[in-house]
Amino acid sequence: MNFEIQKRTLLSVTRDEFDGLIILWPAAALPESAAMDPISRLLCGACKNGDFELKPNSTLALYSHPDIKARHVVVVCSADNSPGAVRAAIQAAWLCLKSFKIKHLGIHVAGDCASPSIQTALVSLADASYIYATTLSQPKLRSLKQVQVSLASVQADAVDCVVYAQALVSGIEVAKEWANRPANHATPTQLAQAAQSIATGRSFKCDVLGPKEVAKLGMGAFMAVAQGASEPLRFIVMRYNGTDAAQAPVVLVGKGITFDTGGISIKPAPEMDEMKYDMSGAASVLGVFKALGEIRPSINVVGLIPATENMPDGQAVKPGDVVTSMSGQTIEILNTDAEGRLVLCDALTYAERFKPKAVIDIATLTGACVIALGAVRSGLFSSDDPLADEIYQAGETAGDTCWRMPLDDDYAEGLKSKFADVANVAGRAAGSVTAAKFLQRFAKSFAWAHLDIAGTAWRSGAAKGATGRPVGLLLQYLVSAANTTPQQTTKTKTKAKRKVA
Ligand code: BES
Ligand code: MN
Ligand code: ZN
Repeated sequence: MNFEIQKRTLLSVTRDEFDGLIILWPAAALPESAAMDPISRLLCGACKNGDFELKPNSTLALYSHPDIKARHVVVVCSADNSPGAVRAAIQAAWLCLKSFKIKHLGIHVAGDCASPSIQTALVSLADASYIYATTLSQPKLRSLKQVQVSLASVQADAVDCVVYAQALVSGIEVAKEWANRPANHATPTQLAQAAQSIATGRSFKCDVLGPKEVAKLGMGAFMAVAQGASEPLRFIVMRYNGTDAAQAPVVLVGKGITFDTGGISIKPAPEMDEMKYDMSGAASVLGVFKALGEIRPSINVVGLIPATENMPDGQAVKPGDVVTSMSGQTIEILNTDAEGRLVLCDALTYAERFKPKAVIDIATLTGACVIALGAVRSGLFSSDDPLADEIYQAGETAGDTCWRMPLDDDYAEGLKSKFADVANVAGRAAGSVTAAKFLQRFAKSFAWAHLDIAGTAWRSGAAKGATGRPVGLLLQYLVSAANTTPQQTTKTKTKAKRKVA
């Protein structure tokens, strides 16, 4: 999909041959009967006749109107044109259009609209029009190719917002694609190939370690999870260098369980298919790197993905087994279904070698987080207040929100073990917090945050599908961090190219 922005009047937009045209109409802008353009006049009439009310998300659809060149037109009330209101309005308008074959879409914003709302309009349109196709023999393909946003007055930063939205959407769609793929089409090996192709396409580094290298590193916790699977594990290391090599990188660690059966502590059958989504953290890291390659912010970022299946098997790790993690800490694996923290703890130890500015892990870690926060906000855990604030704020800005959870040491009581330095599970209470407390033991030497995306990474039921979250939050965090860190040398600055839509 390609995005564009133009300064246009509503009248001139009615003369463009779009397949579809969405008019975002703020509630406070009353349409005039004497207006130059046919849409204002129509709307005015509809309001007067009581057939239309400027209430948030109410829509008025037109077809083949003689005075309007676009075939399908939807006027939608976008309340105050705030990002949240625009998102809801675009969703409502797309419901009217989605059954038609729309290749070229116009979005005209009547009235003033700040650039973040334009970005939101494009990102939510992409979200609403996304169609998964990979494993269907006769897929319904997305027809939408070109989206042209127009306003009567375009703010100076609007073009940047559109370029950003385009990169963000391509990142979100990489994340959705990999998360949605069934586990037999998204094996650790295939995830590693995806990482490599994202990296080579944008000339950044990607190393893939296999079982031998991982054994050599002493990643005993990661290996314990993988030992029941016949698909070989992969440890993926991606490096995006947007500034001086001397600048400490941000490290993103994505949980990459390509299927979570629970292992010997096997999960119940209902909805177990959804555990193909247990690599959504990894998918979000791939998505962020895809977007970084397009906007090229001046920051260094490392992506780490421990990828494996969690399977029951004659070789599988058993409840009660004690393993030695890369950090040297021994772990009593009381529940093989608490595997995410086992693969993540070794990746966190591996992250130390980058002397990172911050490490953020992203994981579909606990069912308890779904109970705590539902599908609205991701769980945010951090030992570092400034980092937590930046991540929280990035979520608010991006409309990809999270909520900070506690990390009091008292929550770690239940992780005590008689047979190892730590157990991998505590009781049922505060399950998302005790999982984070486990990870925190491996994140002592850097500023660390953990995002539990178990509730937000995918939707269940009729609308089942990956959301692409939290790519929006992470990219916003990285771009803000790039803008607030002391500037890089001019040499690297000129290297940072921007791709314009
Ligand atoms: N991948 C799951 C967490 C999960 C469950 C995410 C359901 C989304 C929906 C994770 O590996 C897991 O199984 N966690 C256990 C931990 C427990 C054994 C302490 C859980 O949440 O039940
Ligand atoms: Mn599990
Ligand atoms: Zn899991």
